[in-house]
Amino acid sequence: MNLKDEIIKLKEEIDVTLVAHFYQRDEVFELADITGDSLELAKKAMETSSKYIVFCGVGFMGESVKVMSPQKRVLMPKIACCAMARMIDVDYFDESLAKLNAMGVSSEELLPITYINSSAAVKARVGEMGGMVCTSSNAYKIIEKGLKSGKKIFFVPDRCLGQNFAKSLNLKSTVIGDGTDPKEADIICYDGFCSVHQLFSTDDIEFYRNKYPDILIAVHPECDPKICDMADFVGSTSQLIKFIKELPVEQKVAVGTEYNMVNRLREKNTYILSSTKPECPTMNETTLQDVYNCLKEIKDGKEVFSNEIFVNDNVIKWAKVALQRMFEV
Ligand code: 13P
Ligand code: SF4
Repeated sequence: MNLKDEIIKLKEEIDVTLVAHFYQRDEVFELADITGDSLELAKKAMETSSKYIVFCGVGFMGESVKVMSPQKRVLMPKIACCAMARMIDVDYFDESLAKLNAMGVSSEELLPITYINSSAAVKARVGEMGGMVCTSSNAYKIIEKGLKSGKKIFFVPDRCLGQNFAKSLNLKSTVIGDGTDPKEADIICYDGFCSVHQLFSTDDIEFYRNKYPDILIAVHPECDPKICDMADFVGSTSQLIKFIKELPVEQKVAVGTEYNMVNRLREKNTYILSSTKPECPTMNETTLQDVYNCLKEIKDGKEVFSNEIFVNDNVIKWAKVALQRMFEV
């Protein structure tokens, strides 16, 4: 039997749900029971009744499922950490707050919002301070809700997402350390970013528009604001998929997000908006062999797994509050 068939057989024999983000390799993605963007996966994985969740994605995604359903055993075939999520930890979060305090913005004036691409510990810190989590598909609503508190938003870790949503809400944003006065801003962003989404440039957009004058440009909001300003459509992975799949077949579109997802979207007239392959290295770490090994450990009745996600109780308590506030919105 080949690896693919072995995995299908193992899935039938154990009480497991196999979950995969859109950026996973095709051969992993096509075997999953649940696929989606980070918000959909957090919700759907939480709702399954399986004892085991095998999550093919990046570390913060598995952690979010564990936080919302601590009774489930959450395993990741590869515990690969999103590079952007690694740009902030609780110490850096606190140091940034101290910097803002020194620049005349007190912690009481700030409501923290963390993009879901952050560790459970950072989410917990945000939850403790009265803040909440957002994803790229609900950031608009979450920021709007946050502003009703009358406070400034302290947005971590993705500066691009913070700046892009500030623009769409007609708000003033700043990035800590860019030399501007945070007292003047409605949204103060931490200086994190996604290196994959930084690959798309204004030259790439100009190249495609010169070559195909009626082409549409669709990008993820983790792209630089310059790129989002020039695009015809900006959306989360699910929103991009919906937008592109609903286009007439002859409509050309160039897409600025991760390679695996764009590559499987449509047979024709879909282009990758970069001459450098925009592959997320951590999402691509999970192989069929890793998925097989993980399922086999469950089947063999192991008590201790190679790649189980654990989150400490106090972090679960507060990270859950921050995630729950998002689900309520
Ligand atoms: P989505 O929330 O759109 O799934 O994005 C997650 C991500 O990591 C994009 O780089
Ligand atoms: Fe993280 Fe960027 Fe990969 Fe998304 S594409 S998981 S933000 S490194």
